[in-house]
Amino acid sequence: MTHQSHETAKLTIGDKTLDLPIYHGTVGPDVIDIRRLYSEGGVFAFDPGYTSTGSCESAITYIDGDKGQLLYRGYPIEQLAAKSHFLEVAYLLLYGELPTAEQMEDFESRVTNHTMLHEQMAYFFRGFRRDAHPMAVVCGIMGAMSAFYHDSTDINDAWQREVATIRMIAKMPTIVAWAFKYHVGQPFVYPRNNLDYASNFLNMCFSVPATDYVVDPILSRAMDRIFTLHADHEQNASTSTVRLASSSGANPFACIAAGVACLWGPAHGGANEAALMMLREIGTPDRIPEFIARARDKDDPFRLMGFGHRVYKNFDPRAKVMKQSADEVLGLLGIERNPTLQVAKELERIALEDPYFIEKKLYPNVDFYSGIILDAMGFPTSMFTPIFALARTVGWISQWKEMIEDPQLKIGRPRQLYTGATLRDYVDVENR
Ligand code: SDX
Repeated sequence: MTHQSHETAKLTIGDKTLDLPIYHGTVGPDVIDIRRLYSEGGVFAFDPGYTSTGSCESAITYIDGDKGQLLYRGYPIEQLAAKSHFLEVAYLLLYGELPTAEQMEDFESRVTNHTMLHEQMAYFFRGFRRDAHPMAVVCGIMGAMSAFYHDSTDINDAWQREVATIRMIAKMPTIVAWAFKYHVGQPFVYPRNNLDYASNFLNMCFSVPATDYVVDPILSRAMDRIFTLHADHEQNASTSTVRLASSSGANPFACIAAGVACLWGPAHGGANEAALMMLREIGTPDRIPEFIARARDKDDPFRLMGFGHRVYKNFDPRAKVMKQSADEVLGLLGIERNPTLQVAKELERIALEDPYFIEKKLYPNVDFYSGIILDAMGFPTSMFTPIFALARTVGWISQWKEMIEDPQLKIGRPRQLYTGATLRDYVDVENR
């Protein structure tokens, strides 16, 4: 819901003064509409990394970085993590309101009945090397879905958009679980309709034909909470990738595959894998000062993985919930003396007292503790980011849905500050 302010932003460029509209959202910073900047002012705005640029209007997720607040459709993440469950959060993100009991039953039924993959897709998995990173497999399989589900690729058909939405939310756990099974050389386990979303995923990951497997409710609840915490996060890099890819009219499976690819980076969703590997490299609390010193050293490219954030300049609220969950899950699993968790807590304590981290407002983010829980649940580090992608699929799709349904949808096409060679003629090789 946008309200135009009575005031405008005046920008003087040479002998021109532009009156640029200012819009208020429901909460958060106002925005200056610079769409006329080039046509009337003859200049581009310049904001590499989009540190001060709003790319769209959205009503889905709001972050207050200074307060360390995260709202999904207005509901605080702490309340949703404690009281809701992932499929209900998925419904909220997609449709804007918490579902009634009937709406939830219908949504859950539609998701449950789309969890199987086209049997032919199993051959796609077998085309990869066994030691391929599961993210490479997940990215490839999601992109390949547009080769199998032709009846839900027309983004201009609301019914096809809805079918594609349900298919991706329903099939992502199967894709991620099968990427894991293929990676470890075990047979694929099919989804089971009598299991809830998180339990179904754990069963597909950890059950084997040779023995009965009963999903531990502690792990299932922890898994579901991890999905909720990772579901959406405003216009982060991977969501912006999905929006830009979708703006060309590309099919939804290809656009979500682009989001998976972007999330893989260690500065983004790949940080959970990197953070656990860093904690293991530190090994014992006495080595923490050495790593803090490296993180502070401008000449050392080392970053404290799982720390810092473009938006949060306070605690990432998801990290707080994740830390509580780590204590709970490891305690219930009888591994509260987990050395990696001890190192993480000591590292957090030391870093938060360090002038460098205080000055730069660097706090633990969602990736700092998540790997410790996933490791305790039995996942290898290579599965951490695929699990992040599984959860973020509903956020990507919600943002994609919001954008496609926006009548003002335009293809995204940024401009640049050109610093290359000016016009010159070709020189034949004998004259160079
Ligand atoms: C996610 O955008 C999202 O919402 C993402 C995400 C989501 O849910 O989608 O929240 C998920 O990606 C979380 C972030 C996971 N990444 C990491 O944990 C990797 C480590 N963190 C950094 O790479 C960094 O903090 C970023 C990438 C997360 C944020 O980078 P910014 O906002 O571009 O900040 P910056 O790189 O410009 O850093 C500002 C300053 C720099 O120092 P100066 O150049 O000003 O001297 O802080 C320093 C940085 O060197 N800094 C760090 C640091 N993070 C920033 N120094 C040491 N360790 C760190 N972790």
